[in-house]
Amino acid sequence: MARFDLAFSSLTLSLLYIAGTAIATTTTSIEEACKATRYPAVCVETLQAHATDPQPSLQALAETTLSAGIAKIKQAKTFVSQMTNGKGLSANEHAALKDCFDGMGDGLDQLTQSVPELRKMGQDQGGDFLWHKSNVQTWVSAALTNYSDCYEDSDEPTALNGSIKSAIRGHVEPAAQVISNALALVNQLQQGH
Ligand SMILES: *[C@@H]1O[C@H](CO)[C@@H](O)[C@H](O)[C@H]1NC(C)=O
Ligand SMILES: *[C@@H]1O[C@H](CO)[C@@H](O)[C@H](O)[C@H]1NC(C)=O
Repeated sequence: MARFDLAFSSLTLSLLYIAGTAIATTTTSIEEACKATRYPAVCVETLQAHATDPQPSLQALAETTLSAGIAKIKQAKTFVSQMTNGKGLSANEHAALKDCFDGMGDGLDQLTQSVPELRKMGQDQGGDFLWHKSNVQTWVSAALTNYSDCYEDSDEPTALNGSIKSAIRGHVEPAAQVISNALALVNQLQQGH
């Protein structure tokens, strides 16, 4: 009986091992990975550099998308900075733009620290995988919230008129879409990928 148990558990272990290996070699296609995002066309476009790779890893796709989002949000931040320093603003308008700019800076910090954290997910297949994953998820979604705060119509009265808001939206929203896609790709990552 003891012998049987031993055989049984080593069989179970082998099966688990095989299952684990199967997961580890699972790759994806760009289209498949992008299906789960909110902006799939943007997602596919962002990942063009991987188009020639027949079996890209989801990890690599998530990293590329996050980096692309960071590059875009930096450009948007420069735009908001120029607006903030623009002439003819009222004190309230200036303060509101400054808030938006500061929030974007905080968000950028959170995105920037998510890059090495995402890499750790790829390297650390041990017990810390989920910890790194939840850090990335928390930071990226916090950054996203702050970006939409700059231009979304809230119930609160805002110092910024519609034309300023839509100018900000025009720059920030394309970046926010890429960042939202990065989050959706990270959400799909599982241990072993
Ligand atoms: C919006 O505010 C800006 C900055 O004060 C001003 O230059 C612009 O004319 C305003 N636009 C409208 C449509 O009120
Ligand atoms: C969002 O921006 C505000 C400043 O506008 C800042 O105080 C806050 O910490 C930011 N939150 C995040 C999560 O970045």
